[in-house]
Amino acid sequence: MDTAMLRQNVSESFEKQFGTAPTAIVSAPGRVNLLGEHTDYNGGFVLPMPLNLEICIAIGPGPNPGHAELYSLNFDARADVALDGDKADEWTDFILGSFQLSPHEPDLKAGYCLAVGSSLPMGAGISSSAALEVASLRAIAAYQGDKTPDPVAIAKNARKVENEFIGMPCGIMDQFASSVGTHNMALFLDTQRLDYELAPLFPDHRFITLHSGVTHKLTDGSYEQRVKECNSACEKLGIASLREVSADDLDRINAIGGVEAKRARHVVTDNQRVLDGVEALKSGNAESFGKLMVQSHLSQKNDYEITVDETDTLVEMALQMGAIGARQTGGGFGGSIVVLVKEELVDRWCEDMTTRFPETTVLAIN
Ligand code: GLA
Repeated sequence: MDTAMLRQNVSESFEKQFGTAPTAIVSAPGRVNLLGEHTDYNGGFVLPMPLNLEICIAIGPGPNPGHAELYSLNFDARADVALDGDKADEWTDFILGSFQLSPHEPDLKAGYCLAVGSSLPMGAGISSSAALEVASLRAIAAYQGDKTPDPVAIAKNARKVENEFIGMPCGIMDQFASSVGTHNMALFLDTQRLDYELAPLFPDHRFITLHSGVTHKLTDGSYEQRVKECNSACEKLGIASLREVSADDLDRINAIGGVEAKRARHVVTDNQRVLDGVEALKSGNAESFGKLMVQSHLSQKNDYEITVDETDTLVEMALQMGAIGARQTGGGFGGSIVVLVKEELVDRWCEDMTTRFPETTVLAIN
């Protein structure tokens, strides 16, 4: 569904549910990450890109002081949320957390109505949570009269919602890509300094985002465990952040041994792959970018141990069917793979893959 259609649906649903037109309608996209996984909470480099799949929110005043009346088009469900309440492990948490942590300081004693629609599948590893946080913060900003909130500030606050309200110790990549990124451009981000630069995609190749059909879930503790293992690697290395070491320090990293050496090795080599990948994008070297993707997948599989059999098989088959690069993308443990394919092979490749693996879905082609 395109943006205009989604907006129209959300606007019409708002009117139908709440009997009045919304004050503002905003949206925020999901993202695919091309290279650099689990590097963001280690102060490292990432290379995501926003997708044409997004979450759209319409907002207006509501009748119930201190409450938000929410309507989800996708679930066809309504919810009434007390604005001073705690998280309830529901989709409404992202909106509630945004109200409580928004720098636009909405009046939590007033009433609101919000309708939410999405073209972004949940659990596909393409940042539906970050898109919901960014869209919520944009909606609140627009309601408070700020039509052009600072995108970097929105990204920082959206991460805060995820870290402090939801309790997920994620980095800033997803929120940054959603808030600051540009469609059809890769976003090279230094997550420590928050410096960023856009890099062009390949004119004669396409990135295909393919959902494996395995729903990824990062709240079961495996993501948090990786964060802890990286912290423990830092302790063993006597540093404050893995950003202080690089691929030149592999001997030192290997010497700490155990799971910490594996995790740190993935982080520093994936950081290097992002730097090399940006150069490959700038010089139009798709072959070398493809190789970096494959190396990144193997590093996620062997050193970071965040892939699953299904995504390993899909990456292998993607390459056998003519892709020049493929890797699991996002937080991991399922979700999506991103694949680099020569433009003229794209239709055929998509058809072959989805026929052979009917549980997969092509989510985006860029
Ligand atoms: C999730 C997190 C991000 C990042 C990725 C892995 O998407 O939200 O901050 O850590 O996993 O690269």
